[in-house]
Amino acid sequence: MTNTQEKLHIGVVGAGSISGAHLGAYEANPNVVLVAICDKNEERARAAADKYGAAKVYTDYHELLADPSIDAISVCTWNNTHAEITIAALEAGKHVLCEKPLTKTVADAERVAAAVEASGKLLQVGFVRRYASSVEVLKRFIDAGDLGEIYYAKATCLRRLGNPGGWFSDKERSGGGPLIDLGVHIIDICWYLMGRPKVKSVTGNAYKKLGNRSHIKNLDFYKAADYDAERNDVEDLANAIIRFENGASLMVDVSFALHAQKDEISVKIYGDKGGAEVEPALVIMGEQHNTIVNLTPQIDHKTFDFVDAFGREIGHFVNSCLGKVETLSPVQDGVEVTRMLCAIYESAATGKEIIFE
Ligand SMILES: NC(=O)c1ccc[n+]([C@@H]2O[C@H](COP(=O)([O-])OP(=O)(O)OC[C@H]3O[C@@H](n4cnc5c(N)ncnc54)[C@H](O)[C@@H]3O)[C@@H](O)[C@H]2O)c1
Repeated sequence: MTNTQEKLHIGVVGAGSISGAHLGAYEANPNVVLVAICDKNEERARAAADKYGAAKVYTDYHELLADPSIDAISVCTWNNTHAEITIAALEAGKHVLCEKPLTKTVADAERVAAAVEASGKLLQVGFVRRYASSVEVLKRFIDAGDLGEIYYAKATCLRRLGNPGGWFSDKERSGGGPLIDLGVHIIDICWYLMGRPKVKSVTGNAYKKLGNRSHIKNLDFYKAADYDAERNDVEDLANAIIRFENGASLMVDVSFALHAQKDEISVKIYGDKGGAEVEPALVIMGEQHNTIVNLTPQIDHKTFDFVDAFGREIGHFVNSCLGKVETLSPVQDGVEVTRMLCAIYESAATGKEIIFE
């Protein structure tokens, strides 16, 4: 792909739940031609191709990657396949937008990073929250120094009933439960806004107390495309404290099942000049004329808006592939976040603090 070419030709691997967000955003992007969709489940791939106007359908991603008309792909498959599909795509000369988490293990994340380096192709990690308009606005305040030195962040994403089942609750395919699925987003967004400080140590806890609560009636929740409540060997709840070399710290807790009154999402960062809440809605806190002020930016999406954020993430990926901008979520950040997630699991398993060298 060269930046003189007008349109980017796209293939999407994985046609389950999240692929709709990618496909809808590609369809709406004037610089994209959607060429092909691949899923192990042919019917699902065909239905998506019909809906979004892709000419080709594959059930084997190797065949999609062998298609020379495709410049770039989205990887929207189970977590355990991300490394393998992403590396094969890079080796086939495609740019890649890989859904989060980048990989299940640090070794795999490093293999992906090496493949990016060797191929000279672009890899964007699907840290979609970085692309939300509320985060872009806040980043401008942070970069202008309005929050000063950010020394503390606190992030919570608690579902009382929200184990999506299927592959999500099969550790072999997912790598874990709410920590790797939800924690990845909120840890990343705090770390990104804190200026990506180097990790010093991690202490975590993980619990399997409630199971998946699939017996609960009359309350709906997010489910994988192939929902199956039978297998569940992932944690229900995890929490952690991450210390950084610059002295800053991050506290996080996440759950798929919990005896909580209601679901909760909150992402908050605190600096020595000001603070900010990213979720549940953007607010920037500070002082003016000896008075505490809470500033509410007047923007369309004060909270995370799925369609807006995916549209912006895909738009950024397309423009990065076309050489117009640099990705906001490069592979190195995927490696670092994977390091934090794996260290939390290791700390929980061993009961010890993990010190980074
Ligand atoms: N960014 C977000 O907010 C967000 C939200 C949900 C899921 N995700 C991520 O997206 C990915 C997919 O999640 P989902 O909810 O769409 O799951 P899903 O189960 O609904 O869909 C996954 C699809 O991938 C297909 N698949 C699996 N392995 C394949 C392979 N080797 N080749 C071809 N197809 C294959 C399955 O048949 C299935 O149709 C996961 O990595 C998940 O973490 C991200």
